[in-house]
Amino acid sequence: MKHSVIAGIGHAVGEKVMTNFDMMEFLDTSDEWISERTGIKERRVAAEDVYTSDLAAQAGKEAVESAGISVEDVDMIIVASVTPETLTPHMSCLVQKKIGAKNANCLDINTACTGFLAGLNIADCFVKCGEYQNVLVIGSETLTKAADWKDRKTCILFGDGAGAAVVQPTEEDYGLMGHHFGADGELGHTITLLNLLKDQEEMDKRISGIPQTLWMNGGEVFKFAVRAMINATKEAVKKSGIQMEDLNWLIPHQANSRIIEGAAKRLRLADGVVYDCVRLYGNMGAASIPVALYDANAEGKLKDGDIIAMTGFGGGLCYGSIVMKWKAIR
Ligand code: UT7
Repeated sequence: MKHSVIAGIGHAVGEKVMTNFDMMEFLDTSDEWISERTGIKERRVAAEDVYTSDLAAQAGKEAVESAGISVEDVDMIIVASVTPETLTPHMSCLVQKKIGAKNANCLDINTACTGFLAGLNIADCFVKCGEYQNVLVIGSETLTKAADWKDRKTCILFGDGAGAAVVQPTEEDYGLMGHHFGADGELGHTITLLNLLKDQEEMDKRISGIPQTLWMNGGEVFKFAVRAMINATKEAVKKSGIQMEDLNWLIPHQANSRIIEGAAKRLRLADGVVYDCVRLYGNMGAASIPVALYDANAEGKLKDGDIIAMTGFGGGLCYGSIVMKWKAIR
């Protein structure tokens, strides 16, 4: 049977490192509070003139090289983001132009922090039905450009980055196994980032007064996140025909180490199964999971044949998990 497999990966992160101590210079906060409540020590900030499509193109180009194909071989580009610098042209078209992937169809999606996984899921369908051979899936965000820098409850969380994967068909026993996705639109009001909407209640929440900034009810999202991570991972594992103890790795959305630890404990995962790089980047939205996957591989942690679950949650609110058998990347 034909599977789809990740054949190449790439990443890019904002150039500037901003530590918790740097934040204390303009915000009433402390390294102690941020570290204890979130696990974050530093995050990456893109330069003023570096946008979501720039990071996406950089990560995408690296993924194409890592898959050993040429940019002309890419037949589909999917970019997931909630921080596109323009709504049209959309990000995947900008990436197509920037990397010269002139034969690629281009699609943008927005399912917030679950976006990269949703992109992988779409790629999986296209690849399995034989429509495309090389799908470039990218999660990219410049969340620091959408942060309300006067709101200490949210701005300390975010960072900028992009992660990418090339998805190809394979007859071998590797690749995507099972998945589970879902949403709860009733909770949509707990994370908001406005576009054209003019709404006084939403405006009143934004301390900076800037409409295009991200607002969040952290406590409500926290409760949802732990629940969603547990359920999505359990369902994806079940649909993959394996047991939780078969997982070599869980690579979760990197929003908060306390969420990750809480979910890992309730999933009864053994020590060392969960990959956590929250301290280095904070929450990079749709880029969090692919950047974590990239780093775990770069650190030599992922072995050929490892069973990996990737689980995300966030704006929408939505959630999702994909289980895959890892094929070592050259
Ligand atoms: O990717 C989308 C998914 N998003 C998430 O997963 C986020 C989920 N939520 C969270 O990670 C946590 O809710 C936060 C880290 C955002 C907040 O942590 P919390 O433990 O829920 O804190 P809180 O908002 O309940 O605030 C507790 C206290 C408050 O003070 P009072 O009212 O008790 O006096 C805040 O004003 O901590 C205060 N506080 C801060 N203090 C220092 C809030 N932010 C800060 C800060 N520095 N940066």
